[in-house]
Amino acid sequence: MFGSKKEIIGIDIGASAVKLVQLKETKAGYQLKSMDREPLPPEAVVDSSIMDSTSVVQAIHALSERNRIKSADVAISVSGHSVIIRKISLPSMTEDELDNSIQWEAEQYIPFEMSEVFLDYHIIGPDPNDENLMEVVLVAAKRDFVNEYVGVLKESGLNPVVVDVDCFAIENVYSLLYGDDDVDVVALIDIGAGGAQVNILKNNVSVFTREVQMGGNHFNEEIQKRFGLSSEDAETLKLQGAFEGVDATQAAALIKQVTDALCQEIRRSLDFFSSAFADEQVQKLYVSGGVALTENLLKSLEDRLGIPVAVLDPFSHMAVSESDFDLDYVKSVAPFFAVAAGLATRKVGDKL
Ligand SMILES: Nc1ncnc2c1ncn2[C@@H]1O[C@H](COP(=O)(O)OP(=O)(O)OP(=O)(O)O)[C@@H](O)[C@H]1O
Ligand SMILES: [Mg+2]
Repeated sequence: MFGSKKEIIGIDIGASAVKLVQLKETKAGYQLKSMDREPLPPEAVVDSSIMDSTSVVQAIHALSERNRIKSADVAISVSGHSVIIRKISLPSMTEDELDNSIQWEAEQYIPFEMSEVFLDYHIIGPDPNDENLMEVVLVAAKRDFVNEYVGVLKESGLNPVVVDVDCFAIENVYSLLYGDDDVDVVALIDIGAGGAQVNILKNNVSVFTREVQMGGNHFNEEIQKRFGLSSEDAETLKLQGAFEGVDATQAAALIKQVTDALCQEIRRSLDFFSSAFADEQVQKLYVSGGVALTENLLKSLEDRLGIPVAVLDPFSHMAVSESDFDLDYVKSVAPFFAVAAGLATRKVGDKL
């Protein structure tokens, strides 16, 4: 793409933590320079909206300081109800022609006022069902929603130059680093604290995106209800498998039950994709986000879906220096960093 080759830092503001990744592009590929995360209080980001910007600014400051980052260019991403992604078919035209008509074309597909959104698009290519048409991915994000994120970054002394969408950042990791896989239809699923984002690629092109309203917080809510714990204690019980005063067998049974419900929701999304796409089947699933670390999640998904399921480790195809990083640690937390790593591969001036 056009634009300068200057490296930019990926900052992913999630419901539970802010993640930062800094990469260096070398002739041999990407090299990891920094990866770090800073937790957020539970109510700081709710439904992808920044509710408590002071806490988010503080978290970004902590990350900048620890990683010695000052007034850098950064890429951020957004997701949730205020972001609409639609694949549409339009009469074939040049990029210039589309640029002129996109606002008008988009109007009928986007449930917001055009004046209220930032609009972006990406031409996929000819429509396989009609040679006079071409397929285009439309992305519309509410202006005030994006501006909240941009404002927080600026307030933290950083310079946001790229605004991406979570699932496209992950797609970037996949296509840059994993693209050689010999499967045609792949599902990428990021399961964070707030929810899960599904993105299905066919021949490395996104053909289906969907949000699943169930993530890590859902486990905590169920644990809270069942055992009368605070959300912090529920998180501890979830991560450690035990909490004072709670029967460990009952806790394990509840966590298994929620894991099954989550797998069922994911299955539903993949089935929905198959029915919408002429029985096309997903052949492999990559999972990222902290919830990918849930015990038995990958196995349950494999059992339920009957396809191979793997963790998307953004650092596995990068150079990671043994003298700068604890490699076991990097591997153990890699799924948290899929979005931030994808953002860090962006260049100034990049579209989608
Ligand atoms: N070992 C683990 N087992 C189960 N869940 C885990 C584990 N480690 C982290 N999690 C969960 O992962 C979630 C955090 O993951 P992540 O950082 O990807 O989310 P986020 O980006 O903050 O949220 P979102 O993407 O929804 O905005 C939390 O809900 C946390 O409890
Ligand atoms: Mg996330």
